Amino acid sequence: MDSLPVRVACLHATDRSVEQRAAHEWCDGAAVAADPVALSDVADGTVDLGDYDAAWWHRDEPLDEVSAEAANCAGALGSYLEDGGGLLLSLRALSAVEPLGVDPVGPDAVGVEDCPKPTGFAPKAVHASHPAFESFGERVRTDPAAEDRPFARYESLVPDRGQVLACAVSGDDLLVGRKQVVSWRVGAGAVVGVGAHVVFTAEGDETAARDQFVRNLLATLGGDRRPTFTDRYTDEESARALRAALADDHHRPGYHLAAPANWLNDPNGIIHHGGRYHVFYQYNPAGPFHGTIHWGHATSEDLLHWRDEPLALTPSPDGPDRDGCWSGCAVVDAEGTPTLLYTGGRGRDQLPCLATAADDDLRAWEKHPENPIIEETPDDPAILETDDWAAEFRDHCVWREDGAWYQLIGAGTRDGGGAALLYRGESLREWEYVGPLLADGSDDAPPETVWECPELLDFGDRRLLHVSNYEETVYFVGEADLGAPAFEVERRGVLDYGDFYAPQSTRAPDGRYLTWGWLPEARGVAAQWRAGWSGAMSLPRELSIEGGELAQRPAAELAELRERHAASGERSLAAGERLSLGLSGNAYELGLEIDLDPGATFELGLFESPALSERTAVRYDGESVAVDRSRSSHDPAARGEQRMPVADAVGPDGTLSLRAFVDGSILELFANERRCLTGRAYPTRPDADGASLFARGGDVKLRSLDAWELKPTFAAGRTRTE
Ligand code: FRU
Repeated sequence: MDSLPVRVACLHATDRSVEQRAAHEWCDGAAVAADPVALSDVADGTVDLGDYDAAWWHRDEPLDEVSAEAANCAGALGSYLEDGGGLLLSLRALSAVEPLGVDPVGPDAVGVEDCPKPTGFAPKAVHASHPAFESFGERVRTDPAAEDRPFARYESLVPDRGQVLACAVSGDDLLVGRKQVVSWRVGAGAVVGVGAHVVFTAEGDETAARDQFVRNLLATLGGDRRPTFTDRYTDEESARALRAALADDHHRPGYHLAAPANWLNDPNGIIHHGGRYHVFYQYNPAGPFHGTIHWGHATSEDLLHWRDEPLALTPSPDGPDRDGCWSGCAVVDAEGTPTLLYTGGRGRDQLPCLATAADDDLRAWEKHPENPIIEETPDDPAILETDDWAAEFRDHCVWREDGAWYQLIGAGTRDGGGAALLYRGESLREWEYVGPLLADGSDDAPPETVWECPELLDFGDRRLLHVSNYEETVYFVGEADLGAPAFEVERRGVLDYGDFYAPQSTRAPDGRYLTWGWLPEARGVAAQWRAGWSGAMSLPRELSIEGGELAQRPAAELAELRERHAASGERSLAAGERLSLGLSGNAYELGLEIDLDPGATFELGLFESPALSERTAVRYDGESVAVDRSRSSHDPAARGEQRMPVADAVGPDGTLSLRAFVDGSILELFANERRCLTGRAYPTRPDADGASLFARGGDVKLRSLDAWELKPTFAAGRTRTE
């Protein structure tokens, strides 16, 4: 084997274990020049790490008893790293990031476990080209099945400064929540931690991959071609690099707001402040799966062009939000300070927390020292306890009315059904419980339902309350009595019949209510992992109450995105006639006024491949609009049908007005400015971007037809930028 041009210091604290000796012997066999070096010699300067290209601490035994020794060499190691040194921490030595001063947050799961299947890693898509994974595919197994394997990893926590490079695999199973390969930048230097699956006393077929992996790591850490970007984005440049890593994914949206990479769920804290819209969102920096939730942040002046801002909220290792900063809202307090109310999760508790803006750009937030600001959940109704939570109690909507603050918190009740619980406060820090504003008393409420993300909007003579119940977002139009408390429901409905959840709203400067919802993926965990990103925001929607009924329209500003007007005017389609729309790309808007002859069905073909082997059909038969995804993709991703009833929503002249927004894998439909259906489609072919119109079983008159190509604005991974 070629020798690696790196000299390695094999660190050890006490007498070397059998495993540590095996690792050192492996260096000899792998043609890596290596010396054993005692931490005490580094600490007292007997050994100068500057004489080595890389340092490697491999430790199978618990770290606790030697962390004082690690802390003693933090100074010497810190300067070595600052000057450009490289450090590999493997197995339980990953926990040394804390005493060594590399990261204030160390791994929260350490110990010894049985591994009944061969184990290893799956690189994150955004790090697929990281040199650690050179010569590997999507998964690499580096350790044979075995008993008593030492490990150190992040599970409920993520490092504060490091970026997760890979998760664990066991056999064919992807264990996304096990964050075992992490890298850090320290000054000009680099640290990589590999908390498991690199065992040198192991024997089996997997050891060849282990050898390659460790060689890759030592070559990178000891060399001068280290990867430069971080996915713990703290500035626009690293966010741009992250987006660029996903740039050729034709499923990524181009004008919908999405995170630079990794996971996004609910919109949070939406506010218009300082001349800009601020949309925060639930974000997991560890990868495209739910967990270790932070708040991401994006801003826009015009609702069209978005800019990535640094992460706004990060869980505090000692705080009530240690396990996640869950959903919440933003309001401006009595002194004019923007303030966030959000749910902190820790252990089995989820409780309300508060943070205030420390700058006018809303980039820096100070958490209230006395969080949580509400310490107990109410007794009446009794709150649901589940396997995960002592009380299902979360998400916040706060407003000021008649000289007092009011707050809604979502909950599940022990008797079944969800509830929106009302609080009243003299200030944003002190709250008294008033009672449930509305609860799902219906007999058919599925057990263990939680009403998540409640929001109350004021339209003058009517209010709109909406809640998300795990399945969909239900709204109620009616009148609220905040004193009783009570909500008298006049009408109820569903905000969107498709993949849309946990919306949040804000008032635009001109008084319009604008609402964004989370568009979850409609494909599985492995597909999301492969893509490297998950979730997008809906387009901003204008909500209003007209004649006692809810109206929903895409924000008027979106018309600014229109570029080439590919089709316009009236059209008639005879039964069986097909018309191709001649659009190019998969970012466009369609506007149609559809009039059906008796017995006719109008069909809109979207995401069509040239031979139509992939195709998503939107059908309108006078009763409902259905999205048929049975042939959307050769990948058995999202295949179900989605349906929205529209018979009672057609215009007085019997026509249906349909607006469709297509963007990457997103389809948003607006029917008669009242009902919405959002779908996701994942055709495998990048050329599956055709769109056509078809009349089935009768003639169809299109009283108007418009098709516009739209320009990508938020360079959400698409190659074209402005
Ligand atoms: C809704 C939700 C909220 C919670 C957040 C966690 O999607 O489950 O109830 O605060 O997401 O990310």
